[in-house]
Amino acid sequence: MAESRKLRMGLVGGGPGAFIGPVHRIAAELDGRIELVAGAFSSSPEKSRAAGLSYRIDPQRAYGSYEEMIAQEKQRPDAIDFVVIATPNSTHLPVAKAALEAGIPVMSDKPATATYDQVLELEKVVARAGLPYGLTHTYAGYALVRDARALCAAGEIGPVRKVVVEYLQGWLSESIEASGQKQASWRVDPKLNGPGGCIGDIGTHAFHLLEYITGLDVIALQGTLRSVVEGRQVDDDCTALLKLSNGAQGILLASQIAAGEGNGLRIRVYGEKGSLHWQQENPNTLTLRRTAGPDETRHASGGYLSPDARAVTRLPGGHPEGYFEAFAVLYREFAEWLEAWRANKAEAPATLPGIRAAVRGMRFIERAIESSRTGQWVEF
Ligand code: NAI
Repeated sequence: MAESRKLRMGLVGGGPGAFIGPVHRIAAELDGRIELVAGAFSSSPEKSRAAGLSYRIDPQRAYGSYEEMIAQEKQRPDAIDFVVIATPNSTHLPVAKAALEAGIPVMSDKPATATYDQVLELEKVVARAGLPYGLTHTYAGYALVRDARALCAAGEIGPVRKVVVEYLQGWLSESIEASGQKQASWRVDPKLNGPGGCIGDIGTHAFHLLEYITGLDVIALQGTLRSVVEGRQVDDDCTALLKLSNGAQGILLASQIAAGEGNGLRIRVYGEKGSLHWQQENPNTLTLRRTAGPDETRHASGGYLSPDARAVTRLPGGHPEGYFEAFAVLYREFAEWLEAWRANKAEAPATLPGIRAAVRGMRFIERAIESSRTGQWVEF
């Protein structure tokens, strides 16, 4: 029987001035199935308490550290049901491990860990714990991404031959880390971020989107990673050629020095019979172009969309849905899974990125760095 209460969420990260933690809170609560009740919002206990007040949670449950949150919550009859990880990458493994080993499911932000070795450890921890683990590759939650995925699976554009995916941002065009900008500072520090800069931060999103929509695996790549801004210790501009499991080829561009760009994630998938075109800055349309016949613009919430896409739209046509709603789709699926898992150990839904995507994303970073170092193609 479905549970009637809301699932209780404990958030790690999302302290004062943070970007994605508050997005997780809004998205998780959007469908009324989840409630933020606890958190370790900052590595500074004082800031964590201040954030707790701003989130209007019980001040007793704004903890000084994630270790304290897990230990204290385990004692409560109304303990958290899962932990959300929205901290810099180097903390993802320790937090996930602490939660899973305490028997608490995890919803983590990407990249799954800071290094490839860490994700292999995480994979073992998840398997041992046998608990739900989700990964918030946000773009997988857009209705028209689901539609593109369904169209590919149905053979609507024929076998895929070529994929062009780009994720272009301009916000790191200058050394804003030098002035202490919060989001930039840890991202350019390999100790906090991991060795892959732009390739890890947004390249992994592009990589995931490509595999998610096409249903194909990348099997080899040749990458060039550069640090364009002087003194930067991680890459900020990346180009990769890809070979896919069906013989198709792809190109992936990821850059954070693409001056003037905002969040330019765009994908084009070319099959034998036609192509699909989607971009996240205009996410409510998907264009299907056929070699024979006119172009088709598909709108989010169209009654003609695939069932998978219709299942994740909330509003009638013409009412734009965006980033929060896409994020919320992942949370709704996670909540459904958690409840079903509790009831009968249900498997993860195929639409929700999880530990497989976690490992592949980290492998992508590791392989791209290796290829850039040697100048060679590398197998995946
Ligand atoms: P941020 O720097 O804005 O926020 C990080 C927060 O974590 C801060 O409040 C900081 O005080 C807190 N924190 C650091 N260490 C902590 C610890 N040990 N315990 C508790 N809190 C701690 O960073 P941002 O941009 O929010 O990124 C966080 C994570 O989310 C990163 O892994 C990033 O890759 C990911 N992200 C994912 C996005 C997506 O589209 N899914 C978008 C943006 C970020």
